[in-house]
Amino acid sequence: EPSHYPVAGEAGRDPHQTWTGAAPQKLYTIRVKEALHSFHPQLPTQTIWGYDGTFPGPCIVARYNEPCLVRFYNEINPYAVGYGSPEISVHLHNLHCASESDGFAGDYWSSVRYGPGLTRAGQFKDHLFMNHYAGFSTDPAGIGDTREALGTLWFHDHRLDFTEQNVYRGMAGLYLMFDELDSGNEKDPNPLALKLPSGVGQYDIPLVFADFLFDKSGYVYYNPLIDNKGHLGNKVTVNGKIQPYFKVQRRKYRFRLLDASVARFYEFYLMNGTTSQNFTYIANDGNLLPAPLTMNAVRLAPAERADIVIDFSKYPHGTRLYLVNRLLMKDGRGPEGLSSRGEQLLRFDVDTDPMEQDVSQVPARLRDLPPINLNDVVRTRRWEFDKDNAIWTVNKKIFDPEKAAAVVKRNTAEIWELRGNGSWHHPVHIHMEEVRILSRNGVPPPPHEQGRKDVIVLKPDERVKVFIRFRDFTGKYLLHCHNLTHEDHAMMARWDVVA
Ligand code: C2O
Ligand code: CU
Repeated sequence: EPSHYPVAGEAGRDPHQTWTGAAPQKLYTIRVKEALHSFHPQLPTQTIWGYDGTFPGPCIVARYNEPCLVRFYNEINPYAVGYGSPEISVHLHNLHCASESDGFAGDYWSSVRYGPGLTRAGQFKDHLFMNHYAGFSTDPAGIGDTREALGTLWFHDHRLDFTEQNVYRGMAGLYLMFDELDSGNEKDPNPLALKLPSGVGQYDIPLVFADFLFDKSGYVYYNPLIDNKGHLGNKVTVNGKIQPYFKVQRRKYRFRLLDASVARFYEFYLMNGTTSQNFTYIANDGNLLPAPLTMNAVRLAPAERADIVIDFSKYPHGTRLYLVNRLLMKDGRGPEGLSSRGEQLLRFDVDTDPMEQDVSQVPARLRDLPPINLNDVVRTRRWEFDKDNAIWTVNKKIFDPEKAAAVVKRNTAEIWELRGNGSWHHPVHIHMEEVRILSRNGVPPPPHEQGRKDVIVLKPDERVKVFIRFRDFTGKYLLHCHNLTHEDHAMMARWDVVA
């Protein structure tokens, strides 16, 4: 019961904020710990720090309006040395969440230490994931305006100054949210249900992409860069494995692509021999698009997600298809064009027909977008992402967890103008409220970016205007570059919502 706080042994703040809304209906326990992992059968088994000791971590399946409480135990040796920090802070990326469960960078903890946002250390910390807008009862029809983050979310470490190292050590997991529309059941008799390919791990498959730097003996190492452009690996892993294969039946599959890399951008192609294949693009970041798009490439920046549907029934038994990354990067500056062949990351082996007929579908209409009500806009605010004296900054300031760079009012909307200066790409992430991209350098964004977004890529010298509203929660939140090297050095800003 959330009202019983504080609980003995819990890291946190005294006194606790009061929880908003209903009591959780599910309780999960996740143990953050050191464990052995194999990236490839020919490479040595090695230690990672993972949620439940795995990389990627466990995948939580959540339902809209069904709050869940996740108790994270920190079982990493609090005196561990080497790269990474044994203090952690867990952020559920894209969740609409009360501030104290948002994994604020300064709210880090272990059993012996705690950050400036907390007042005590502890063995565990509870996060209440409400899984709805706190005023959800005003959304009678469902589906519409207030619903959000109804798709592919992920949780990862957010420890001040050490997010890059802790995520790179393995702290990343998926969190998938469903509702009546995207119900996770392709045989759902409810006429509202979209009947997308379903069954997490069966026909609904998360694909987590992360690159690591392997040394000559096959061990991952961390290279503390002096230039702080962004840490890149020399091998890309898919769900923690180098060049895995996946046997697929001749039917439709939904894939949830997540870029969980520190700094690498990707552009994925589905190749049959030398020809790229079309697929259906259905979701960008944590939400379905209003209508599916037919595409033959999908680009992801760090922390971005895309859901695609591939119909393997077009290919004869025995076909081998490859998911290929063609995007070139020399350093953390950002993409530098496409290579002609690219690198094969994942192989699909098209197998036999499914035992049962494939009844899944991709309807022409997915989830409607809420209207953008510009009348609610009370002001325009500018956020500038730049480098000052070799340090990454937001509005020329380095991150201070104890100082709000902006204070916004609940029940208002604003236009935020994000500006990237210089020759850098910055995938900017905004916590708590999703935004809508109004324009990129004055021009409307491409169709796949017209949905709800929580990562907004700034290209060199680009100005992007987004619409954002603040509806229910108050407290401290973050915006930052999700190139984790930039984030830690210290391209992040705190913004507070007040009543
Ligand atoms: Cu995915 Cu503030 O992070
Ligand atoms: Cu950046």
